[in-house]
Amino acid sequence: MTVHFIGAGPGAPDLLTLRGRDLIAGSQVCLYAGSLVPAALLEHCPAGARIVNTAPLSLDQIIAEIAAAHAAGHDVARLHSGDLSIWSAMGEQLRRLRALGIPVSITPGVPAFAAAAAVLEAELTLPGLTQSVVLTRTSGRASAMPDAEALPAFAATGATLAIHLSIHLLDKVVAELTPAYGSDCPVAIVWRASWPDERIVRATLATIVAAAADGPERTALILVGRVLAPGDFGESSLYAADYDRRFRPNTPQSRFAGGAA
Ligand SMILES: C[S@@+](CC[C@H](N)C(=O)[O-])C[C@H]1O[C@@H](n2cnc3c(N)ncnc32)[C@H](O)[C@@H]1O
Repeated sequence: MTVHFIGAGPGAPDLLTLRGRDLIAGSQVCLYAGSLVPAALLEHCPAGARIVNTAPLSLDQIIAEIAAAHAAGHDVARLHSGDLSIWSAMGEQLRRLRALGIPVSITPGVPAFAAAAAVLEAELTLPGLTQSVVLTRTSGRASAMPDAEALPAFAATGATLAIHLSIHLLDKVVAELTPAYGSDCPVAIVWRASWPDERIVRATLATIVAAAADGPERTALILVGRVLAPGDFGESSLYAADYDRRFRPNTPQSRFAGGAA
């Protein structure tokens, strides 16, 4: 018996990995995390599977479901939205399951920030603009931000920001970022990336609050950075014709010619 933690992806049912699909199909129990996991994924469950929405359950109740499956010898597919490595509450479940000696596996999923970047047709790291993406959030009722991770601290780096769980605080986000990024800095908000009701607004720090005024207050990513309207940026050296590299030696004298390391 194993508990398979599976990243369910951002919303579109076909953004589930093949491994995730097969694990769901092979598990007699499926626990899924509420409305952010698309119902279509549950169609992969085998006939007669026990399917439980964990949104109304406490951690104790979730672990009790898993312990019951363990006692019955049933595999569990545990679905969380996006990928499991960020804001999935997987860590606390893993700790409990390890203490109980219940085996686990982890299958990654497509994170929402990647789905939002795809919708925007954007690369979030561009040569000469920024080479870093900060996945962050603002303080919420359930999780306070460590002081050192306040938005102005990340803004000081100039990196592309992918701000989660914060659409209801958009005016605060704008106020905290404008001093470092400038009011003309591009911003994009993607609500429910890859869902049928996906929505996009593009603006600047100066105009985004008005532009997004009628948007929903849930399930959105706020992306901030010059990469969103890059204009002139450099090309990667990797593909430059004169860049000598292992996979494309540019002269017979190259240290890489002849398959040298
Ligand atoms: C609890 S976090 C889960 C993040 C998830 N584990 C991931 O890998 O993206 C939920 C937040 O992720 C963002 N989010 C999740 N799905 C999204 C989507 N399809 N489109 C836009 N933002 C999304 C929103 O900021 C939402 O409030």
